[in-house]
Amino acid sequence: MNNFTYYNPTKIYFGRNTIKNIGREMREQGVKKALLVCGRQSIFSNGVYDQVSSSLIGWYVDFIRFSGIQPNPLLSKVEEGVRLARQEGVDAILAVGGGSVFDSAKAIAAGVAHDGPVWDFFTGQARIKSALPIFGVLTLSATGSEMNGNAVITKADEKKKWGIASRHLYPRVSIIDPTVQAWLSERDTVNGAVDILSHVFELYFDGSENVELMQEYSEAIIRCVIKNVKILLENPADYEARAQMAWAATLALNNSNAAGRRGGDWATHDMEHSISAFYDVAHGAGLAVMTPAWMRYVYREDLPTFARFAEKIFGIEKGSLEEKAEKGIEQLREFFREIGAPLSLQDLGVEYRDLEKMAENAVQDRTLGRLKPLQKEDVLAIYQLAWEQ
Ligand code: NZQ
Ligand code: ZN
Repeated sequence: MNNFTYYNPTKIYFGRNTIKNIGREMREQGVKKALLVCGRQSIFSNGVYDQVSSSLIGWYVDFIRFSGIQPNPLLSKVEEGVRLARQEGVDAILAVGGGSVFDSAKAIAAGVAHDGPVWDFFTGQARIKSALPIFGVLTLSATGSEMNGNAVITKADEKKKWGIASRHLYPRVSIIDPTVQAWLSERDTVNGAVDILSHVFELYFDGSENVELMQEYSEAIIRCVIKNVKILLENPADYEARAQMAWAATLALNNSNAAGRRGGDWATHDMEHSISAFYDVAHGAGLAVMTPAWMRYVYREDLPTFARFAEKIFGIEKGSLEEKAEKGIEQLREFFREIGAPLSLQDLGVEYRDLEKMAENAVQDRTLGRLKPLQKEDVLAIYQLAWEQ
């Protein structure tokens, strides 16, 4: 187990009827006027907006609405939010939505406190030294953005979907009421499940040694997601299944799972972000395609862990390490098929001729991954596997 520092300042309210706490929390933390950042439609039809606004009004927190955040959120929209936040003199940002809304809220919060362009943070030309306080009401459990300091934003003209991470970007308070996820589409539920699994895989398969507790913890999350997404596909309003999935999503990317490890692999995420930047596909859909392809390309780097995964998750006990590892990857693909996730880049409408440009875009003169460091040629080979599979 490596040395580690664990930092997570986000206070979580979890469960039924918890949204009502948002106004009091913001008031107690001295917020007078907030920018309420939200998506396009869902919170206005499922009662979330009404619950949030009545709590804010009840606690005398003034707010101005900034709606229209789309999946794969755009830099141009973030810049618009920064302008509005300044013009209205807000002293906090409130995200009400899924990961795209949270990520946009975080980028706006950092942008308001910075004189130059927000994109400077993404290119590394500027460091995030402060941000407006961030609060959140989560409506889609997938990304873990409700309890981490990360944000991913797309600069569409350059096809760059890049991330930032800072201790200033943790929400002060996030509210997770699983009941409001009962009306998520099947597709968003499946994409969310795949994203949670992928966050666990990025850490689980990073080649760390002596992380027994973290491996067991990861396997518990994986089993929980596999079981509960199937329940939700039968009954989207099953509260217990939504609740298990919601907390799994938060735990999968709030650093608890990363303790003592090497920092995660993250090549699958980097490769997926390039697909989303080119084709505007949902993050979870891209991950469902890229995960098995990446696994097939790298599993020989750590046969014991891939064999352990096959045994602990899918009960595969017979065979050599290599045979077990291969069966585990095949079973994972079967599971993706069973829940209706896309299986190949062709399913996502990706053109073969774009693979090279996507590989170049994903790598950007770096090396991706940790278990097996990947150059551009490796990434292209994995895209080809993912296209053909
Ligand atoms: O716009 P509305 O109408 O709200 O619809 C949204 C959107 O179409 C809908 N939705 C949200 N809550 C709902 C709902 N529909 C019905 N009922 C509800 N309660 O869901 C759709 C997808 O929303 P989005 O926020 O895009 O999904 P998600 O939470 O999966 O976020 C994905 C984004 O997060 C980034 C991804 O790359 C992607 O851009 N990520 C952020 C991370 C982080 N900050 O730590 C890490 C992740 O790995 C990921 O990269
Ligand atoms: Zn993800």
